[in-house]
Formats: sequence, C-alpha cells, structure tokens
Amino acid sequence: MYYTNIYYKQINNNEMNTDSKNIIKLEDERDKKILNFNDFQKQNIKFDISKLQEAYRQIIQTKKFDDGGGISHFGAICLTRIPGDPESVKGHKARGLYWTKPNTSGKEVSRDVKIDEAAYSEFVPDFENTYFKEIFDIISKKYKLGRVRILLKEPRSTLSWHRDPEPRLHIPIFTNPGCLMVIENVAKHMPADGSVWITNNTKYHNAFNGGEENRIHLVACVLDYKFN
Ligand SMILES: [Fe+2]
Repeated sequence: MYYTNIYYKQINNNEMNTDSKNIIKLEDERDKKILNFNDFQKQNIKFDISKLQEAYRQIIQTKKFDDGGGISHFGAICLTRIPGDPESVKGHKARGLYWTKPNTSGKEVSRDVKIDEAAYSEFVPDFENTYFKEIFDIISKKYKLGRVRILLKEPRSTLSWHRDPEPRLHIPIFTNPGCLMVIENVAKHMPADGSVWITNNTKYHNAFNGGEENRIHLVACVLDYKFN
C-alpha cells in the first residue's frame, strides 16, 4: 500500500536550521485522519494475469486504439457495443460524458456526449475468441455493466481532473509503479496481478502514468455499485 498523501507538520527540531515561525501549518482536522481507501474497493475475484496480457497482445495485432475524437493521450478499444452497431464504439462514444473544472474560475462544466451505458450489452464479435470474453461472461453476471473498454494511458500522461456518471471496474493488465489513480486527495497504485477493483469515479479523480511504458487497464462502467 502506498501512503502518498503527505500533510505538512511544523518542524520542531532545533538542529534543523529552520525558523519554524516561517512555516505555515497546512494540516487541518481532515488531513490528520488516517488515509481512507474506501473509494478503491478490491473485489473478491481474480483472473490470470498471463492470460490477460496474452489476450491484449492478441487484439493489439489487429485493432488500433480510438482517440475518442482527437483527444491527446487518450486511447480506447471497446469490448462491448450496442448490438449490431459498430458506430457505437467510435470517437466520442469511446470516451463519454464527464464533468471537469478546467480553469481558474473553478466552475464545473460538462464535456462530451451522454452514453446509454445499459445498451452496450453485446460483446464485440471480433474479440470472442480471446480471454476477454471469459472475463466478460464472469463479471457481467456479477455486476450490471455498461461499456467495457481497454484503456491506454501513455507514459508521462494524465487525464483531466474530472468526475464520471458512475463507478468503474478496473483490471490492470500492464502497469508500473509510476501509475497512480487519485480520487479526491487519496492516491493508489493498482498492481497488474489479476486483481479486480471498483473505484469511485463519481468523485473528482485523475490517473497518471509516470513510467516509461504504456499503462493498459480493462475498464468497465458499473451501473449497480453503491459506495457507502
Ligand atoms: Fe474517469
């Protein structure tokens, strides 16, 4: 577990040549609490990471990541679609509605298009002979899912600071220690070991890849998961 959130303490050590009166105390009652990872919930289910990585290598031979309508540092391959509708996995529909606070005003705005997540019930036929189909069959029985996507986060890239309409299920496929997801003021690395996580994306969050290789996650929208 990574304790990445630091609160600032007044330094009382006289050996340090620091005038403590010049340090502004940033700690407050909220930050003094023990870190709470409740917005990252590891699920009681595990998949075979070697098979996951192999399935990814298999699909990447024939499919390219969609850039969500020309968005830098965004890449998605949809594993589910609206039945019989190949257009439902392209461009803005590979990305979808979110809210962000893009400038100094701090005012929230919405971006991109609303998605009818529940309509994405068909597994894309091109990927039926991969391990992703087995995974889909299992998780779609356990949770009510919307779109299921393979998401790419390139090295030295970040998302916007944003919130989504619903939680997300994550299965990391390739990652590195510099990949962190941040939800409000709590950061967490999710290892690629076959584990399944559900993250509270209805709160403001971000994800970045500070490594030198691509971060690849299977990410599904979860329509029936309630965080307490
Ligand atoms: Fe998000």
